[in-house]
Amino acid sequence: MACAIYPGSFDPVTRGHLDIIRRAAKMFDELTVAVLNNSEKTPLFSVDERVNMLREVCEEIPNVKVDSFSGLTVDYAQQQGAVIIRGLRAITDFEYELQMAQTNRKILPSVDTVFLTTSLEYAYLSSSIVREVAAYGGDIQEFVPAYVAQKVYAKLETKKHGQ
Ligand code: PNS
Repeated sequence: MACAIYPGSFDPVTRGHLDIIRRAAKMFDELTVAVLNNSEKTPLFSVDERVNMLREVCEEIPNVKVDSFSGLTVDYAQQQGAVIIRGLRAITDFEYELQMAQTNRKILPSVDTVFLTTSLEYAYLSSSIVREVAAYGGDIQEFVPAYVAQKVYAKLETKKHGQ
């Protein structure tokens, strides 16, 4: 069985991520979208919230499951017997992604990284853009699924009231 993991922060999942998920799911028997539990970052959403949002928006794709992990991505990939999927939006992504893929192969040569180029309509999109536009009261419906947009606005509202 050909397995892949698609690791990331997904804070929150965007339409660009979903495009990569749908396309990768067609290429592999099983795709695990893996949310990194990174204690160094202060995310908008907790890991559990991000996992739940991903499960909701990936529900209709039968061979996709959602998980979270801590530690090195290559270790998690090896445990799953999977290759790593990453999306490339632009040349500016490439330098960092290449460095990460090469570092990962240095650590564990058996784990490969497969790059998918993001569809052009989503090339500008990132989770941080979504958070920023929403924080300033902008419309994010084009950037994320409606379910996620509603969660982002609700979370920002909660934060505004210091909860
Ligand atoms: O969505 P992101 O934030 O671009 O995802 C980055 C991620 C999670 C794939 C990357 O930071 C990562 O793999 N972190 C885990 C730690 C690790 O394995 N680092 C070694 C690669 S240099």
